Amino acid sequence: MKIGFFDSGIGGTTVLYQALKILPNEDYVYYADTAHVPYGEKTKSEIKNFMFEAIDFIVSQNTKAIVIACNTGTSAAITDLRQKYNLPIIGIEPAVKPAIQKSHQTGRRVLALATNFTLKEEKFNNLVTNLDNEHIVDGLALPGLVEFAEKFQFQESVVMPYLVEQLEAFDLNCYETVVLGCTHFPLYKDILRKLFPQHVDIIDGSVGTVNNLKRTLAEIKKIGEGSGKITFYQSGIKLEDPEIVDRYIHLLDRMRSIDA
Ligand code: DGL
Repeated sequence: MKIGFFDSGIGGTTVLYQALKILPNEDYVYYADTAHVPYGEKTKSEIKNFMFEAIDFIVSQNTKAIVIACNTGTSAAITDLRQKYNLPIIGIEPAVKPAIQKSHQTGRRVLALATNFTLKEEKFNNLVTNLDNEHIVDGLALPGLVEFAEKFQFQESVVMPYLVEQLEAFDLNCYETVVLGCTHFPLYKDILRKLFPQHVDIIDGSVGTVNNLKRTLAEIKKIGEGSGKITFYQSGIKLEDPEIVDRYIHLLDRMRSIDA
């Protein structure tokens, strides 16, 4: 059986990249809902409807577990999805907890970068309210990065001016950690790295999510059933054109080089 990966678009490949490293002996179905991306600018009920359709499809592909590799999708629908489907569903959320813990040692602040939807949602705000007694977490939505990523635009000359403008009002020196709370954003970690001072850590929730997946597969005794094969779908349509499949493979390569 396979593992399903879902994202509103191409961003979930940053989590799939970690899965291929940590769980190489599995086969994967990657589903990008490119017909409806960006989710970050939509309403909760719109997002839920799109996701139920997508998850119905992923479940029909002989999957043993599903990763919602989308912070926005997780905050909109994870509870409903777990109620409806009878297989493990693993979500991702902004890694503010380790970031706040680290800040307690240094006194510096946390900057959470995510979509507008994630930052406005109850799930994120409850998480921050419970952990952030000293009010050290700032949030910034970067929908432009989702747009660039969906157009496969990764050139620094295109992305940097946008980031500089968005971060203009922030004192970058006062941060200890930048939390990438949208799965599209790690694709720009190399560019973000150049903007922030050296002491700033840039983290995301992908490794934690894949470790959860690994634990879950061990629990259900369905671990190590494949060979790293990935089948890609865009909104229910299987990608057969090698040129388009290659674009996705390049994203995994891009993550590998950012990680190196
Ligand atoms: N990749 C998504 C996330 O992790 C959402 C991007 C979007 O569709 O707006 O939040």
